[in-house]
Amino acid sequence: MISENKIYFYPIWLRIWHGINAMGILILIVTGINMQFSNPKFGLVNFELAVNLHNISGILVTINYLLFFFGNILTSNKRYYRLKRKGLFKRLQLQVDYYTSGMFKNQQPPFPLSEKRKFNPMQKVSYLTVMYLFVPGLVITGLALLFPETIIENVYSVSGIFLTAILHASLGFLVSIFLIIHLYVASIGKNPLNNFKSIINGYHDIHGH
Ligand code: HEM
Repeated sequence: MISENKIYFYPIWLRIWHGINAMGILILIVTGINMQFSNPKFGLVNFELAVNLHNISGILVTINYLLFFFGNILTSNKRYYRLKRKGLFKRLQLQVDYYTSGMFKNQQPPFPLSEKRKFNPMQKVSYLTVMYLFVPGLVITGLALLFPETIIENVYSVSGIFLTAILHASLGFLVSIFLIIHLYVASIGKNPLNNFKSIINGYHDIHGH
């Protein structure tokens, strides 16, 4: 749907998912860092509170993930996530060149957005990796840690819980890095706030990118 150079990219279910997800993951990052760097003598905030908030937000983000997962199976939003492998490396290279050089010389983006294309190749690869690898990995390891009796006791002589916790924290770290890059990339455009408005009101301004 195009009206006055605006494309309706973000249907309401996707915006609701994104809002809850963003809030939930921010809480998970803050409480996760708190738990990671607390010790009995020093906690950034109350340790019990951090654990409880982390568990509640984790469950909320997990249930909310189902909205993203089934939303993308049931609606046409999935078409934006389809990745053609042929020539992918070349396309990624073009996008990297744009972000590291072309953009600063006011060149046109190599993959201008249209009703058929909501993401450039880098966004596509990173959203696919985060949403279908990192977040599900966090959900599975997080649920396992919430019910530790489900975790295998030892892998050779290393504690299964310890390995699961390492994997969980590492994925959390990767999602935190993604979020920083995500916010930077989202601010790229004629006006740094354009994309943030879009994910709230649903409409992407094609001249704003
Ligand atoms: C303060 C937190 C966040 C802000 C302000 C934010 C901002 C945005 C903006 C402006 C967009 C639209 C531009 C675009 O499509 O690239 C977007 C889309 C998206 N964001 Fe975020 N984001 C946040 C957190 C997150 C987190 C934590 C995740 C995942 C772990 C995430 C995943 C996504 C995905 C998958 C899309 C594309 C959705 C679609 O159109 O199908 N975002 N975000």
